[in-house]
Amino acid sequence: MNAPAPEIAIEVEGLTKSFNGRVVVRDLSMRVKRGEIYGFLGPNGSGKTTTIRMLCGLLTPDAGRGTCLGFDIRTEADKIKRRVGYMTQRFSLYQDLSVRENLEFVARLYGVADPVGAARAMVERLGLKGREEQLAGSLSGGWKQRLALGACTLPEPQLLLLDEPTAGVDPKARREFWNEIHALAGQGLTVLVSTHYMDEAERCHEIAYIAYGQLLTVGSVPEVIAGAHLVTYTVSGDDLGRIATELEACEGVDMVAPFGASLHVSGRDRDKLEAAMTPLRENRSLRIEPSEASLEDVFIDLMSRSRDNFQ
Ligand SMILES: Nc1ncnc2c1ncn2[C@@H]1O[C@H](COP(=O)(O)OP(=O)(O)OP(=O)(O)O)[C@@H](O)[C@H]1O
Ligand SMILES: [Mg+2]
Repeated sequence: MNAPAPEIAIEVEGLTKSFNGRVVVRDLSMRVKRGEIYGFLGPNGSGKTTTIRMLCGLLTPDAGRGTCLGFDIRTEADKIKRRVGYMTQRFSLYQDLSVRENLEFVARLYGVADPVGAARAMVERLGLKGREEQLAGSLSGGWKQRLALGACTLPEPQLLLLDEPTAGVDPKARREFWNEIHALAGQGLTVLVSTHYMDEAERCHEIAYIAYGQLLTVGSVPEVIAGAHLVTYTVSGDDLGRIATELEACEGVDMVAPFGASLHVSGRDRDKLEAAMTPLRENRSLRIEPSEASLEDVFIDLMSRSRDNFQ
């Protein structure tokens, strides 16, 4: 029987998982559309990897249900695994095999029809021609990750789960990696990718932010920013260190963050924030301008609020 082809790639409800009596993913529901690039963000230890592993059937949730590519995550894990490319958080290829050997090995493991040809085509696609015989372990960080991406797309999966694929990779290599993600999505692949980088979040169709095991917000980047209802000012001028300390103590100021030669000041209550800013307006050496909250402002705000709720 063929796999069903719903327009939804992932749909899960109420996923919960505990380790040693501690809840690390709590009542998590999410929906990922086919062909979409879905970004998964959240602080260290917030439950991203645990969620990804539940989505592809590697880990069974304690509670909750759902489907991935139309298959039940509890009872049809083997069918899911055959159709999903999972790039783990740590480099998972053989460091002491060459680029070609790694790709051929993966192709054989997944029963790809012509493993040698498929590996050769992938080398070309990755731009690794001329480096086929180089040991994977001797590649730069950026090339390693591209190779790992290539390896997990070799079996022609319908869904890619990429767990922090670009951690520690330089900006140019990250950009190329993301160009490749977009090219794959353009061919119809669904991509769920976890990241700590804001510029990468902005390259996703939709993002979700998770903290303390709970999904706090979902939507496109503009929707997430608008949904946070943060009022933000940029303050530039002299003596910003002292001003930051003063502002931090004011009611209505939820966040102060230095950015180069200016401060980002934000709060959720417009009137209170305005009141906190009023004394600063008398200081002629300062420039105070309304600005839009950045994605980073929004995430830090969400995280501190969820910590308050948690305690
Ligand atoms: N197999 C396990 N046994 C016990 N605890 C675990 C296990 N796997 C994860 N945890 C714990 O669950 C919590 C969530 O971990 P998880 O790896 O899902 O977070 P993460 O969001 O992926 O973090 P990071 O950004 O650092 O990769 C952490 O506190 C972690 O220590
Ligand atoms: Mg992780």
